[in-house]
Amino acid sequence: MRDESGAVIRLEDYRPTDYLIDRAELDIRLDRHATRILAKLHLRANPAGRPAVPLVLDGDELRLVSLAIDDVPASPQAFEASPERLVVHAPPAQPFTLTIETETDPTANTKLMGLYRSGSAYCTQCEAEGFRRITYFLDRPDVLCVFTTRIEADRQEAPVLLGNGNPVAAGEAGGGRHFAIWHDPFPKPCYLFAIVGGRLDKVADRFTTMSGRAVDVAVYVEPGKAADATYALDALKRSMAWDERVFGREYDLDVFNVVAVSDFNMGAMENKGLNIFNDKYVLASAETATDADYANIEAIIAHEYFHNWTGNRITCRDWFQLCLKEGLTVFRDQEFSADERSRAVKRIADVRVLRAQQFAEDSGPLAHPVRPRQYREINNFYTATVYEKGAEVIRMLRTLIGDDAFRRGMDLYFDRYDGTAATIEEFVACFAEASGRDLGHFAQWYEQAGTPTVNARGHYDAEAKTYRLALTQVTPPTPGQPEKAPQVIPIRLGLVGGSGAEIALSPAATAGHMPGVFVLDGPSATLTFTNVPEKPVPSLLRGFSAPVRLEIDLDEDELLVLFRYDSDAFNQWQSAQTVATRAILRAVGAGTPPAPDRRMADALRHFLSMRAGSDPAFAAQVLALPTEADIAREIGHDVDPDAVHRARQLVKVELGAALAAELAELYSQLSSREPYVPDAAGAGRRALRNACLDLFAAGRPAEGEDLAMRQFRDADNMTDRFAALGVLSHLPGAARETALAEFSERFRNNALVLDKWFSLQAMIPEPETLERLRGLMRHPAFSMGNPNRVRSLIGSFAMANLTQFNRADGAGYDFVADMVLALDARNPQVAARLLTAFRTWKMLEPRRRAEAEKALRRVAGTPGLSPDVADISGRSLS
Ligand code: PHE
Ligand code: ZN
Repeated sequence: MRDESGAVIRLEDYRPTDYLIDRAELDIRLDRHATRILAKLHLRANPAGRPAVPLVLDGDELRLVSLAIDDVPASPQAFEASPERLVVHAPPAQPFTLTIETETDPTANTKLMGLYRSGSAYCTQCEAEGFRRITYFLDRPDVLCVFTTRIEADRQEAPVLLGNGNPVAAGEAGGGRHFAIWHDPFPKPCYLFAIVGGRLDKVADRFTTMSGRAVDVAVYVEPGKAADATYALDALKRSMAWDERVFGREYDLDVFNVVAVSDFNMGAMENKGLNIFNDKYVLASAETATDADYANIEAIIAHEYFHNWTGNRITCRDWFQLCLKEGLTVFRDQEFSADERSRAVKRIADVRVLRAQQFAEDSGPLAHPVRPRQYREINNFYTATVYEKGAEVIRMLRTLIGDDAFRRGMDLYFDRYDGTAATIEEFVACFAEASGRDLGHFAQWYEQAGTPTVNARGHYDAEAKTYRLALTQVTPPTPGQPEKAPQVIPIRLGLVGGSGAEIALSPAATAGHMPGVFVLDGPSATLTFTNVPEKPVPSLLRGFSAPVRLEIDLDEDELLVLFRYDSDAFNQWQSAQTVATRAILRAVGAGTPPAPDRRMADALRHFLSMRAGSDPAFAAQVLALPTEADIAREIGHDVDPDAVHRARQLVKVELGAALAAELAELYSQLSSREPYVPDAAGAGRRALRNACLDLFAAGRPAEGEDLAMRQFRDADNMTDRFAALGVLSHLPGAARETALAEFSERFRNNALVLDKWFSLQAMIPEPETLERLRGLMRHPAFSMGNPNRVRSLIGSFAMANLTQFNRADGAGYDFVADMVLALDARNPQVAARLLTAFRTWKMLEPRRRAEAEKALRRVAGTPGLSPDVADISGRSLS
């Protein structure tokens, strides 16, 4: 294994390299089993490094064919080569070249890192440390190099040859082979290097930048699929225009290419001028993609494009700074989607993801700071904490200093650090300078792990007409950080009167901060509002202004006031969720149906009558109950997933029955025969209609089944068809099996659609699911070699089937542990990611906890584990 020592890498040990690589000329001759890479590297001593030391280049499973120093073949005494390393003992004192010839077998590369094959195409993935699987290099992000790449291949096999930067030449290479030369003028770290070769179709267009430069933009896909790439191409052009408008950032090359491949470890990759995508985030048609798929495509296309400035033009000094590009770029893509769609609904969706992924991670053994201080395997730090919490930190920064200072800080950052590899300190300093604020304490968000809990207690003095709000914060211990300091928590707030009017805030209450924002930066604080004419209901953390848990002493009636009247849509939604969460928690405690709470049903009925027509996307969010995982996190310890499932089901059935008439009515009102358009308005109507169907079917299963079956068969788009199938999947019986069979028959040639079918079945909350899963693994469309298939079938079971993964008999854990071990030999990254399903094992009741620990220990004790799986299993058990 590459990292045979399993050594810990620490931020504090950072030092610059001893050598720099200014230019690299690569000549890559593609061949299925023996691809030759000739790399001519132009090196010199780094003035910031140690003088006259050996040169040590990184490798990973490499085979050296030949080596020349300054064009002279190197004598065997001059160097030492192993698959992991190339050491040149005494490099020339003056700038010199190394010409390195290596050979790799892309067909045998099942890790999907470095050069590999996806279907019949050749492609590369270099982040984080994949370039060292192509040639020996200083494979770290602070070595910026200008790449020129010649790619050669059989013309029949690979008529399309793509690289980073601009195309400079192409032609015949003899023997049926051809070549293309690409030059990227922007110095970049090698993790942004990419090539693609294959038989591909494309959709292409031209984008004119704000300064009037023409850019050829194209999306490449497998032959025959070009029509399904038009939405991605359109999203790309919209992203380019948005970044000019909102951040003043213009694109900088003559071409921008996106390539979709079917075998990919992650979502997509921002290689300079040549983004490579998991095809799941490119291909879409009305028949095969849901509204959620379209929204994901738009967001990820934007994300990778935005990296051109936040990630590529300014990159990271070292991998500890990963959030410098990822948190910031997630923030940027969230803002883009908010502008293109509904801002409130986007915020709710983002917070759902944050809580489901990041809060879960942050409360268990895998918790780590947004900027970790140490790692064993960097691949394991592409986490919800680095990405999603990283984005929340940027959002808080903007809330604290205001939009104008934020934009000035961004401009300063682009100005000052363009063309460099930067750090979080350098980034934060730009905003301190632009706003004139001391951000020292705020920057602790990058260092301290764990989700703070903010507790709020209010007291109204009717005599004095004052309202006092007592706030406290605590952050629980996380691995390696037993003691926590208070964080800087921006709390956007308002006071709502009993009949819904917003009560003006006395200026003194939030003095010194942005209007309507109180900043809690100590362990506690008391806010006093004067001239408050009536007992108010506080609306705290509006727009989810900080990634914290909020405990607040509001009763159901007060929460329903916020639900009905709050001017902040996020808190309207949140209040309804809180009421529902409490109802489910009561049912978990009681074990029997609690006395039906008519207030919630009444409030929802009223809400639907007022808002369903004007804001269906928001209404759909309101109708979606908190998930089982939300409830489990709320309980926090000794969780019995079966009890959570039963309780949630009880509340859902009760609510569905109470609202059945309204839901049915709304459902039929929203039925439309207009042709499918994947825009936000249409998506909102479909979301509400399908939310109605789901809740109705819980309350009236027999009628719900009929309605769902009809929708399933009549739908002219995947959103409606798949939503109906989802409803049916929760109703055991013949109809479900019939629908599942019809679906797989209809889409038997579309792997991405079958992924939906796999995933739906993996999430059925019934004891038979494990057997079903074993059967589906033998389905001809399933393959352990394709990450999307693995994630759909096995990942959905492990990550999203709370009751069956956490079966009391441990069979769910055993199954997933077996799969992790089976995958590890083939693709350690995917295996390690799957194993993170155990991240919440410590909050389970004792019997399940013991079973989970047993499975984890079995994984950890298996000889020959990859560093990836060894790291996750080790930390999970600590
Ligand atoms: N940098 C990619 C992104 O977020 C993610 C990625 C990481 C892809 C590692 C592949 C490998 O945008
Ligand atoms: Zn990214």
